[in-house]
Amino acid sequence: MQLLLLSACAADVPNASAKLPNVRILATGGTIAGTGATSTTTVGYTAAKVGVDALIAAVPELKKVANVSGEQVFQIASESMGNEHWLALAKRINTLLAQPDVDGIVITHGTDTIEETAYFLNLVVKSRKPVVIVGAMRPSTAISADGPINLYNAVILAGSREAVGKGVLVMLNDQINGAREVTKTNTSTLDTFKAPELGLLGYMQDNRPHFYRASTRRHTAESEFDVSALTKLPAVDVVYGHANANRVAIDAYAASGDQGLVYAGPGDGSLAAAVRPALSEARRRGIVVVRSSRVGQGIVARNGEANDDELDFVVSDTLNPQKARILLMLALTRTTDTREIQRMFYDY
Ligand code: DGL
Repeated sequence: MQLLLLSACAADVPNASAKLPNVRILATGGTIAGTGATSTTTVGYTAAKVGVDALIAAVPELKKVANVSGEQVFQIASESMGNEHWLALAKRINTLLAQPDVDGIVITHGTDTIEETAYFLNLVVKSRKPVVIVGAMRPSTAISADGPINLYNAVILAGSREAVGKGVLVMLNDQINGAREVTKTNTSTLDTFKAPELGLLGYMQDNRPHFYRASTRRHTAESEFDVSALTKLPAVDVVYGHANANRVAIDAYAASGDQGLVYAGPGDGSLAAAVRPALSEARRRGIVVVRSSRVGQGIVARNGEANDDELDFVVSDTLNPQKARILLMLALTRTTDTREIQRMFYDY
């Protein structure tokens, strides 16, 4: 993967104002950088086409709220986001946030995996400075494209005092969501990002953030995870549970060398008769197994639908399967002790 670092330091920003915060925009692609054939194309467009300088130039109002500079770190549709992208992004963010002339960071990103990148960064960014991830549900060429206002709000949020220490934030549709609970709930509507039961953290209104909640879980500067010396992450995959489930995918992942497996079971992480022995065998091969749920909300209770103590499984608490995969991956960079890993699922 080639990293494109076309960067300017904050001091290079023309007419930089000492009164305004210095916000760096790291562009990765997605619909916010997408183009459609016509102004009414809102599906079937091409993501990851417009560069960071054009994104910034399209919102001249940014100059009134922050000293903004941009870097094109990569240019991809986010369904293709990989561990190597995450490691490069996290290292770049931690380098920038250690600089006194950077007050906050905005990441422009595709919405398909924005919740995963947000949660990964929530666990590995080593600063209390704001990190805000922003996307769009309509391409930049569409009538009423949402990217420009989302980017404007994200830059204000990233430069705000209120966002300091709140963890990684997802900014779309005037709503501020926390990385741990936010998820994409609709394939195409503007209000797709929600934290259905645990709720959003606040709103952007009248050019400033209004916070009403904060996460109760560890994140960013309080996190024990450090990727600074890592060049790869442990192999962890998710298997989706359903009626008539079988063990084929579990056995294939186990044979492929996975170090961890997340099972997205129906209900409270229930294990079908054909699935339980396969996961138990995977555990006996040293693979750490996390019981999660495809349901999306609620706690997966330890020793509820399965005897986790006896099987030596971990439960995901309220993390959805794709986020449980991220936490398990990072946990495995520190330990294979399932009690320690279970503690991490209750801490983060
Ligand atoms: N390909 C999708 C992505 O890059 C487009 C969705 C979007 O960014 O809104 O995530």
